Amino acid sequence: MKLNILVTAGDGIGPEVTNEAVAVLREVASLGGHEFIFPERRIGGVAIVHDGSPLPAGTLAAALASDAVLLGAVGGNEFNSLAPEKRPEAGLLQLRAALGGFANLRPAFAFKELAVNSPLRPEIIDGADILFVRELLGGLYFGQPREWNRSTGEAWNTMRYTRDEVARVARVAFSLATKRRNKVTSVDKANVLEVSQLWRATVTEVAQEFPSVTLEHQYVDAMSMHLMNQPRNYDVVLTENLFGDILSDESAVITGSLGMLPSATIGGKVNLYEPVHGSAPDIAGKGLANPLGAILTGALILRHSAGLEAEAVVIETGVRKVLEQGFRTPDLARTNPQDFTVFTTTEMGKKVRETVKTMLVNA
Ligand code: IPM
Ligand code: MN
Repeated sequence: MKLNILVTAGDGIGPEVTNEAVAVLREVASLGGHEFIFPERRIGGVAIVHDGSPLPAGTLAAALASDAVLLGAVGGNEFNSLAPEKRPEAGLLQLRAALGGFANLRPAFAFKELAVNSPLRPEIIDGADILFVRELLGGLYFGQPREWNRSTGEAWNTMRYTRDEVARVARVAFSLATKRRNKVTSVDKANVLEVSQLWRATVTEVAQEFPSVTLEHQYVDAMSMHLMNQPRNYDVVLTENLFGDILSDESAVITGSLGMLPSATIGGKVNLYEPVHGSAPDIAGKGLANPLGAILTGALILRHSAGLEAEAVVIETGVRKVLEQGFRTPDLARTNPQDFTVFTTTEMGKKVRETVKTMLVNA
């Protein structure tokens, strides 16, 4: 099969981790006789510096013409004083809006080899396997009006949803739950917010279309605690944009590192794939970044944009095997580096690539 995957590596560790993801995908393509191409375009801070805009027109056009977009990370400390619409992050938000994907899938899977990296006890996280479905195009991120009025010293954002926006993302969550453990936990703040009451009523209605799936509702404050106490209770967690942003970072405590988390955004014109972690400027360019989140994001491209489910599973299994053999990036060897072979970003990428290759050749 042919696939045009636009790579927008972005800032900080973005280029380092996307390089490794692309190398793994190239291996899968060459062994399977697939034709994958990986054109590159700028986004975020690097695009502000070179092109004067966080989302240059050429990047947007190339993204819309591609079959999938792989994004590294955006952001950097030198842009911290800019207004939201001028920042690197604005480039990513404009890209998300233009591509139109509204359902951001963020799987959080607790590899048992990484339990030691979590401050939670191993028996709490063992077997945890959660799929966050984060609404990505609504809520406070995009709601109007929004403003910082400097003369009155007042600022506001708007958490706004329509019934249809809630229903379409809820359908994605329920439908994915039918392929997993048939449970959806919908997270809101319906004891305080009208927008959450609409959210809850709509999700409850959509649930009728999926009789095999059990629906429960949680308030976001309680959920942030339950997630740490009983992560194994959850299958699909459905939530609005900002709550999903917060809870998905929290889920890094379950997986042992933010560097392990992949994401896929579906439902629009072109799917967008990004590791959940940020640009991590403090470790950029030092070979310290964990490429596994980006590599697992590559697996999601195969699953959701290429129909190559078996190959996606090979990458995921390859990552597990590499961990089983004791290979770690520094973020995964904080407590006991002496027990492991601690790898740089490229060494880790190479090890996964070789493992994937062996599995595919012997398949
Ligand atoms: C994420 C990030 C983004 C978000 C930023 C970089 C705009 O934190 O993907 O989780 O808030 O959605
Ligand atoms: Mn985030």
